[in-house]
Amino acid sequence: MNLGVCYYPEHWPEAMWANDARRMRELGLSHVRIAEFAWSRIEPEEGRFDWDWLDRAVEVLAAEGLKIIMCTPTATPPKWLVDRMPDMVAVDRHGRPRKFGSRRHYCFSHKGYRAESQRITRAVAGRYGKHPAVVAWQTDNEYGCHDTVLSYSDAAADGFRAWLAGRYEDVDALNRAWGNVFWSMEYRSFGEIDPPNLTVTEANPAHVLDYRHFGSDQVAAFDREQTDILRALSPGREIMHNFMGFFTEFDHHEVGRALDVAGWDSYPLGFLEQFWFDEDTKSRFAQTGEPDIAAFHHDLYRGCAPKWAVLEQQPGPVNWARYNPAPLPGMVRKWTLEAWAHGADLVSYFRWRQAPFAQEQMHAGLRRPDDSEADAYAEVQQVAAELDALGEAEAVEAPAALVFSYQAAWMLDIQRQGTSFSYLELAYAMYGALRRLGLNVDIVSEHAPLDGYRMVAVPSLPRDPVGEHPVLAFDGPLLLGPRTGSKGPVFSVADGLPPGRFRERIPIRVNKVESLRPGTTRTLDGDVVVRWAEDVEALDERVLQEGAVWRAGAVRYLAGWPTDAILDRVFAAMAAEAGVETLAVPEGVRVRRHGGYVFASNVAPEERDVSALVGDAELVIGGAVLGPVDVAVWRG
Ligand code: GAL
Repeated sequence: MNLGVCYYPEHWPEAMWANDARRMRELGLSHVRIAEFAWSRIEPEEGRFDWDWLDRAVEVLAAEGLKIIMCTPTATPPKWLVDRMPDMVAVDRHGRPRKFGSRRHYCFSHKGYRAESQRITRAVAGRYGKHPAVVAWQTDNEYGCHDTVLSYSDAAADGFRAWLAGRYEDVDALNRAWGNVFWSMEYRSFGEIDPPNLTVTEANPAHVLDYRHFGSDQVAAFDREQTDILRALSPGREIMHNFMGFFTEFDHHEVGRALDVAGWDSYPLGFLEQFWFDEDTKSRFAQTGEPDIAAFHHDLYRGCAPKWAVLEQQPGPVNWARYNPAPLPGMVRKWTLEAWAHGADLVSYFRWRQAPFAQEQMHAGLRRPDDSEADAYAEVQQVAAELDALGEAEAVEAPAALVFSYQAAWMLDIQRQGTSFSYLELAYAMYGALRRLGLNVDIVSEHAPLDGYRMVAVPSLPRDPVGEHPVLAFDGPLLLGPRTGSKGPVFSVADGLPPGRFRERIPIRVNKVESLRPGTTRTLDGDVVVRWAEDVEALDERVLQEGAVWRAGAVRYLAGWPTDAILDRVFAAMAAEAGVETLAVPEGVRVRRHGGYVFASNVAPEERDVSALVGDAELVIGGAVLGPVDVAVWRG
């Protein structure tokens, strides 16, 4: 695995560059990512390019043998461009144009901006595409960050109408598919259809779902235009994008199809603070991160492209969460080794030196604004040496797959029925339960073949499949989560009631669903469930009820929101049926097999003894008693 850093030569006096580059090499870094926000310096005025400074920066970095990940600067269109095309900005759901003065202010559907994105991509790729030090490209930066996938601009409305016409051909077909007879919402032509914002009450869910699908397709098309240019002008280089954490607004599997490397930006403490975790969990893991946050994304993005990487790794406190504690000393090393254990190709720290100006002054780097070493610097040095000693490690096959679907996230979000039904949370809960059993898990797209896996978890797959589907074909132990098969084409109740065609695998019918307020529960055959409960009817005698789970042979359907205890029990039973060995992993500890090694880490604030897991194996890193930042690696 390689180590790298995000570097902004344009933020620092040129006199510092050579020293920076030398120290990067000495620190053990091989890669440096540059230029993703540098458009105003590359092209200060329309058509006037200033390459000199970037040429020199590339040479200085190359002279130290650093490998450059060059970026397209399209996340930050400069002022002159916005002034020339004021309607290129995204418009929010309230109809307000987003202004210049930060970043990501463009609308993915604006044809003029799409042409500009291709023009600047061609210019940068033409200049550096064949430079021997440029080994890879990053397209744009964090598609969708700051709520920017969906735009409600005129350009987006036009694009949506064309997208709908392509999909339905005839507006009556759209009216039928959406159920527009309900509330007299029928249209006479595609030209009459607007984006689904600013409606009096909720818009038709089918309308919203198609808009989300359209928005996702726009991101994929925007990215594809850049990757096509980069492949032509920069042959043999890898193309990456840096995805975000806990983000489902576009289909990352679709975008990933054009990439060689699915990168993601790992800020475990920021994510813990910003997402759904309860107050106790936030406090308990404030300086270490909840055990599965980084790992979940490592395994998710591994399923999005041939390779995966951490393109930004939190190096200290960030600036953007509600509270921004410092990681405990040792965490940056641990996050790096954890990425290795999940098979990363690269971990790149964000950023080399903390910026003394503008928006991210309070975001740590590896070095402080005065160029002294920040806390993580020595940890990177240590982990670089440890990685060298570990050497090459081949990926190990995972026994368990978790099927993840972005479309499922959109569908379940659009009609949640109860605010606490969150697809992402459900997927995360199932992932955590599999990991508590010590299993390596692959998170795969719903279209990925499942042959070879010994057991499969499907958090939910609301769209009733048409034709062949890998989940219908999988014949090992299979868990289907609530609301699977609940929706027919576009967005309507599935034929014959849920779970639609999944009845081919488990003959049941869901007659009623209900969402539950916090503090209220339902008891399903002895299992107490929260948030969500379903009334399930068995359609033949092969079906058994086991608490909240209905089972027909190897196929199980979960008729409520699962507690951790239910998931632990069900996955343990499935693993036993599949003949998959599980481990008794102490609370706060996670284990992963990689190459000929087993990696274990603890994020609980208390010590954990893993000697029972280590047995008499040879420890290569650490010991069998793990403090909150410790890591152990043994041969196994
Ligand atoms: C990421 C972004 C970086 C920087 C970083 C700060 O979302 O890609 O440019 O803003 O967050 O944590």
